Amino acid sequence: MMSNTNVPNSATSPKLFILSMTSPLNYLMCAPDHYDVDYVINPWMEGNVHKSSRDRAVEQWQKLYGVLKGLVNVELVTPAKGWPDMVFTANAGLVLGDKAVLSRFLHKERQGEEPYFKAWFESKGFTVYELPKDLPFEGAGDALFDRSGGWLWAGYGFRSELDAHPYLAKWLDVEVLSLRLIDNRFYHLDTCFCPLTGGYLLYYPPAFDSYSNRLIEMRVPADKRIAIEEADAVNFACNAVNVDRNVVMNKISDRLKQRITDAGFTVIETPLTEFLKAGGAAKCLTLRTIEVPIAAESEQGAIEQGGVEARIVELTGHLLDSGIINRALDLVTDNGGSFQVLEFNLGEQRQSTSLARIRISAPSHDLMETIMGELIEIGAVLQDRETCAANLEPVLQDGVAPDDFYVSTIYPTEACVDGEWIRCTNQRMDAAIAISPDGKTATCKLLRDLIVGDRVVVGYDGVRTVRKPEARDTAKKEEFSFMGAGVSSERRVELVVEQIAWELRQIRDRGGKLVVSCGPVVVHTGGAPHLAYLIREGYVQSMLGGNAIAVHDMEQSSMGTSLGVDLKRGVSVKGGHRHHLKVINSVRRYGSIHKAVEAGFVKTGVMYECVKNDIPFVLAGSIRDDGPLPDTVMDLLEAQRLYSEQIRGADMILMLSSMLHSIGVGNMTPAGVKMVCVDINPAVVTKLSDRGSVESVGVVTDVGLFLSLLVQQLKKLDSPVAVAA
Ligand SMILES: NC(=O)c1ccc[n+]([C@@H]2O[C@H](COP(=O)([O-])OP(=O)(O)OC[C@H]3O[C@@H](n4cnc5c(N)ncnc54)[C@H](O)[C@@H]3O)[C@@H](O)[C@H]2O)c1
Repeated sequence: MMSNTNVPNSATSPKLFILSMTSPLNYLMCAPDHYDVDYVINPWMEGNVHKSSRDRAVEQWQKLYGVLKGLVNVELVTPAKGWPDMVFTANAGLVLGDKAVLSRFLHKERQGEEPYFKAWFESKGFTVYELPKDLPFEGAGDALFDRSGGWLWAGYGFRSELDAHPYLAKWLDVEVLSLRLIDNRFYHLDTCFCPLTGGYLLYYPPAFDSYSNRLIEMRVPADKRIAIEEADAVNFACNAVNVDRNVVMNKISDRLKQRITDAGFTVIETPLTEFLKAGGAAKCLTLRTIEVPIAAESEQGAIEQGGVEARIVELTGHLLDSGIINRALDLVTDNGGSFQVLEFNLGEQRQSTSLARIRISAPSHDLMETIMGELIEIGAVLQDRETCAANLEPVLQDGVAPDDFYVSTIYPTEACVDGEWIRCTNQRMDAAIAISPDGKTATCKLLRDLIVGDRVVVGYDGVRTVRKPEARDTAKKEEFSFMGAGVSSERRVELVVEQIAWELRQIRDRGGKLVVSCGPVVVHTGGAPHLAYLIREGYVQSMLGGNAIAVHDMEQSSMGTSLGVDLKRGVSVKGGHRHHLKVINSVRRYGSIHKAVEAGFVKTGVMYECVKNDIPFVLAGSIRDDGPLPDTVMDLLEAQRLYSEQIRGADMILMLSSMLHSIGVGNMTPAGVKMVCVDINPAVVTKLSDRGSVESVGVVTDVGLFLSLLVQQLKKLDSPVAVAA
């Protein structure tokens, strides 16, 4: 099992808490005696240090105070010298009933406010809850009760930590829905989100990630959501104080005012420009200190509850040099999660590896699953690896996996079954992991190959990928751009070709296996004779392609054209556009490529060399094929099977100018096989190197040129005289 750490569980039963209409509302404010912009801890303060006018700030604060006193009870906490932001009492803490969760400020510039607010809460008889040190939570600035349901909206991303949310859920006995803030101008939830009486919500959607927006949309019906524009958002329209049907705020646009009025509210504008310079407005300047919980069934009872989950993973390797640690932490936050690095041991020697132990939290089970899937893919393992076990579910229908089946990657994968870690055979991406009935073997199986009775791994528990530590010098992906505007020089391609030529020699000389997958561009660009040379000289052990490479190669060898173009003269031949069809027709008459070669119809070229040198080839059919040639396998499943058979045991795959076949082959190839992808389109090369395999090399260049350079290099290596020269 994944290791669940002992944070409080937030999956509590929802409670309804409503505004008490019988007791007057209490708000806490703090006079701006010491207010100023003294430092920069948010983008609003930038450029505004000591730029606010004390007199104007006092005047604006008094006005707000006056407005609120007309609506509610306002209590005051004594301002403390040296803590200019104490005026923003929303960040004192979060109150529910007689409980107050004290803020733990992220920035030291505000941490000194904590004891003053604590003393105030205690003096008023609140039971004060304090979060662990180093777990930031900035009170009602980042936690807002929904005004019709029974839950707390809690923000994270800038000031408050996601890991604080389970504490709120436990201490306040309330369901917490976590919302991730992504725009640093809206660094607290109350700067872009304001629940209003009757279940309305004033908010600025771009301040949230997509998961959070979905959550908001699930909980708040469309007719109650008042999404505001950026122009109002930056005037802090959401930083409003809502008292019953009144909304007190800084100045807003007439359009927004109309929308709020149409929803049945009275907008009371009061200028707060001096406080905007510090990143706050009406709501920030107040803390509602009466929030009344009442035990009741939530109207939203049927809605699935959220709930922060936490798990601990370990990463080992050259974490810094390879960038893996950054990748891991980025993917956690990009997916809406949060992390805490519990331990980071940096390897002492150049070659020694580092170890990181990271506590991951996610606002929901679904997001945790997504994060875990991606972390496992980059080699993270669960801390508690000895006791974990893979969850297995039976296949109930041939060719259909259970929901949530673990989708395999190119990396060697192990599943923990009956306490034993077993390595998957037939490793490839996009397959399910089937466990044999005796629990002794694990195999990557394509969906269509699953049969009733197979047991398949579901979820991420008890699964790990085994990544060999990326060496410091090979950690960076090699990608060479040749034709790309000004990106690199001809010399760089020559260097990579030299390296590939060297490796081809090594593979051939030790009896290894090179698989070539290619498209017809090889022929159009004049590369066919070079590829034929590689086959003839024993460098290629298997050839994969489609109908077109074979057709155009044989067109060239039998008619001297490729797609009707005379490659020697570079001009179209009259009627040449029919040449490829004539070739197909002839080969069909012979019955197969082998027979066409034996009959002397095909005398040179790639296919000729394959036949003559007994090199197996597979031509996979596609929807755009003419003919097809008799050898083209039009049964796609069979073609995939034959391809993967050829790929087995490969040391290197040379992918030449075929997006279709390169990507198809890439999907079937496990990590550890070096892939060299040559294509003129950087997107194709990037797609393949995005597999994350360090063995992949992308070469962005003309394939004809590449092959000619490669053959030149190999000839050099073959000729000791040339080498010596
Ligand atoms: N007449 C036919 O039967 C016929 C004709 C064409 C394609 N097809 C079939 O269609 C399928 C897809 O064909 P495909 O693989 O050629 O197309 P593809 O679009 O999948 O790949 C072609 C690739 O070649 C790259 N490319 C173009 N010019 C290049 C150059 N000068 N140097 C390097 N790379 C270059 C492109 O960027 C692209 O990635 C194949 O199965 C093929 O057999 C059949």
